[in-house]
Amino acid sequence: MRIVERPELAKLVTFVPNKNLPVHRWFYYKEGFSRDLVKMLLDEFKPETVLDPFVGSGTTALTAKEEGIPAAGTDVLPVALLASRVKTYDYDIEETKEWIRWAMKLKPQPYSTESVRDPFVKKVFLPKTLGKILWLREKIWEEVEDRKSRDLLTLALMNASLRSSFAFKDGAVIKIRRRPLPPIENSFRRELKKFYVDLDVHPSGRAPTEIIEADARNLPFPDESFDAVITSPPYMNKIEYARVYRIEEELFFPGKRVRGMRSFVGLKLLDRGYLHTLDLYREDLRRALEEMYRVLRTGGRAAIVIAGSYIRELNLIFEADVEVAKIAEEIGFTAQEIIVARKLWATVKRTKKVGQVRESIVLLKKE
Ligand SMILES: C[S@@+](CC[C@H](N)C(=O)[O-])C[C@H]1O[C@@H](n2cnc3c(N)ncnc32)[C@H](O)[C@@H]1O
Repeated sequence: MRIVERPELAKLVTFVPNKNLPVHRWFYYKEGFSRDLVKMLLDEFKPETVLDPFVGSGTTALTAKEEGIPAAGTDVLPVALLASRVKTYDYDIEETKEWIRWAMKLKPQPYSTESVRDPFVKKVFLPKTLGKILWLREKIWEEVEDRKSRDLLTLALMNASLRSSFAFKDGAVIKIRRRPLPPIENSFRRELKKFYVDLDVHPSGRAPTEIIEADARNLPFPDESFDAVITSPPYMNKIEYARVYRIEEELFFPGKRVRGMRSFVGLKLLDRGYLHTLDLYREDLRRALEEMYRVLRTGGRAAIVIAGSYIRELNLIFEADVEVAKIAEEIGFTAQEIIVARKLWATVKRTKKVGQVRESIVLLKKE
């Protein structure tokens, strides 16, 4: 198996190039990769169907739709499912635009914030703003009968809420940063405008897309049903998705509990230490790769974007790309190539460099 360095792909393994792209920009997902990376892989694989079992904000699914390729995606995080669905629905554009115009005219009223249980969520908003967000949410959920438009307005409100909050996401933690905030009415309208103009270039109807709530370790698809997989599993790091998105979860998905992959090193799972956690992570990767192998057709290709990590407690660099290639080969894949897109310095206390980790694209084939 070859390892090649392609530093020109460094930006493409991040979400940054999507920031100003129509529809892709409907939800900023720090953990995502770029449309251009997916486009490059689709051009190479030329699949008739594609799957992303860790669909996240839907970059693979949306890019496939733009290219006219039927796609499916699964995820366990409600925020990710909402964002990727809203980006890839087949809209009745005129009807949805009408609902956006309706939402633009809403004038939020004071509203009880009693239903919000998480004290942290109460802290990141001015009480009046939180009330208005809940009022808008109720209005949208009660009055918008069309599910796609309702989801779209919910996503716009979710984005706007974060803009009008003191929350500041800094990697794995949410910090509170007191500062002057735009009124929620303004943030909401700004979001709605963005969605409205992008609807004119939305790839509705170009190819079917299915986004399903499911665990990548147990996929709800028959054997040999896809030509390609383009995906990026959670990295072995300190990011626990359910925590980073707790504000969104509490306000827009009340009562939902999530169990993702065991990728959160700091958790010290079952209190049996870090080595054990690493084993569990490897085990999850294996189960996800086995499922990809099963649902791929013979001759099918897979691209797995993954970064390694430095595990301070063990003073160990975990080389995730090599690990994925190794596990994949044990399952039956041919590991064709590891493309190293970038190297990142692992630091302790943010400054002391302790080693380099690679972020790579692992190319696999089911022969
Ligand atoms: C690195 S992100 C993928 C980002 C995506 N490539 C994009 O561009 O938006 C990993 C995703 O895997 C999801 N995830 C974690 N555990 C999962 C599981 N067991 N099954 C399916 N998805 C899972 C997380 O919720 C997260 O959205």
